[in-house]
Amino acid sequence: MSIRDTMNPVARRLPLAGGRPAAGATASGVQDRFGRTINYLRVSLTDMCNLRCVYCMPADMKFRPPAELMQDAELLRLIELFGALGFRKIRYTGGEPTLRDNLPGLVCRVAQFPGIEAQAMTTNGLLLDQLAAPLKEAGLQRVNISIDSLDPQKFRRMTRWGNLRDVLAGIQAAERVGFEIKLNAVVVRGFNDQADAVELARLTREHDWQVRYIEIMPFGGIHEFQRGHIVSEDELRATIGSALGPLELQDDGKLDGEARIFRLRGARGTLGFISSVTKPFCAGCNRARLTADGKLRLCLLRDKEVDLLTPLRAGAAAPDLEALIRANIWDKPWGHGLEQNQFATNRTMSEIGG
Ligand code: GTP
Ligand code: 5AD
Ligand code: SF4
Repeated sequence: MSIRDTMNPVARRLPLAGGRPAAGATASGVQDRFGRTINYLRVSLTDMCNLRCVYCMPADMKFRPPAELMQDAELLRLIELFGALGFRKIRYTGGEPTLRDNLPGLVCRVAQFPGIEAQAMTTNGLLLDQLAAPLKEAGLQRVNISIDSLDPQKFRRMTRWGNLRDVLAGIQAAERVGFEIKLNAVVVRGFNDQADAVELARLTREHDWQVRYIEIMPFGGIHEFQRGHIVSEDELRATIGSALGPLELQDDGKLDGEARIFRLRGARGTLGFISSVTKPFCAGCNRARLTADGKLRLCLLRDKEVDLLTPLRAGAAAPDLEALIRANIWDKPWGHGLEQNQFATNRTMSEIGG
C-alpha cells in the first residue's frame, strides 16, 4: 500500500515531502511526511477526572496506577525536549488537568523553557475557582472550559454527577483574573442539541467569549453510544439560527485552530464549530500528544503511539529521544478514518484529553 492510499482526497492532492528532514528540528517545529509542521503539544497530566461525562468515558472507568504515570521531573524533561525541537504551544489536558498536584509549579517551570511561547489548559472548570489566580500568576495564558448545558439537571445528566454552579464559579474566576476564555460544548443528540445549544449561543451576546460546539467523536470503549448521538454542524447551525437569527461567517471561513467561526448579529463573542466528523480538518493539523503515561500519540483518532517514558527511565540521552520523536512525527498518520468507520480503540477520550 502506498502512502497516498492512506490519505483522503484532499491529502492526495498535496505534494509529498521529498525525504526525511535534516537532523536538526526547524525553528518552528517538526515536519511530517505530508509537509505539515507540528509545533503544538497537548500534554495529558493525569488520566483521572472528577466527572464522568457520558460522551467521554464509561461510568465504571478504571484509572491507571500512579507508578505508570510520568513524575514531574520526567514530564518537565520531555516538555523541555519538545521546546528544543521547535514546539511553541503547550496545552494541558487530562482527564482533568487541575487534579495534578502542584500544577502552578509545573506551569511556572515550563514558562522558563526556551521556545515555549504559549501555555493553555482545557478543563472542566470545577477547581478553577481556587486555581485560576495561581495559574495566571504562574504564566498560563488561556483556558478552555467545558460546559455542555446551562441547565443544572441536564448538566448533571451529561456529566453523571457534576454541579453546574461549580463550573460557573470557575468561569467567573477565569474571567476575573483575565484569562481569554473559550467554552467547549460537546453536542449529544437527545441531551443538549436543542434549547441547551441555543442558550449557550445566547451567552455570546453579552460576553466576549468563544462558545464552541464540538461534534461528538467515536472513540474507545463507548463508540456505539458516540456514533448514535452525533449532531452535525449544519444541523446545529440551523437550530441556533432559527432561534437567534443568522450566524455570520467570520474570517472568510478560515479556521481558528480547528474551529470555524461565526457571530450572531451584534454579539460581543463568537460561535465556533469543531466538526471533526462532517468537516475534517486533518490537512491543517499541527498537533502531537503526550499521554500521562509518557507515550507520544501521533493522532487523536488513531491508535499509533510511541513510548518515551521507558527510554527516558532507562537513561536515554537527549539526542536519542529527540531522534525518536522526530522519526515518529515524520510518520504521523495523515488523519482519522471515521468516514471509513475506523476509530481509535486503545484508550478512551478521557485518557488523552481530546
Ligand atoms: P485552541 O488552542 O483554543 O484552539 O484549543 P483547542 O481547540 O486546540 O483545544 P480544546 O482542548 O479546547 O479542544 C476542543 C475540541 O477539539 C475537543 O473536543 C478536542 O477533542 C478536539 N480536538 C483537539 N485536537 C484535535 C485534533 O487534533 N483532532 C480532532 N479531530 N479533534 C481535536
Ligand atoms: N468527542 C468530542 N469531544 C470530546 N471531548 C471529550 N469527549 C469527546 C468526544 N467523544 C472534549 C471535552 C473537552 C475536550 C478536551 O474534549 O468536552 O472539551
Ligand atoms: Fe472528565 Fe473532561 Fe472527560 Fe468530562 S470530558 S469526563 S470533564 S475528562
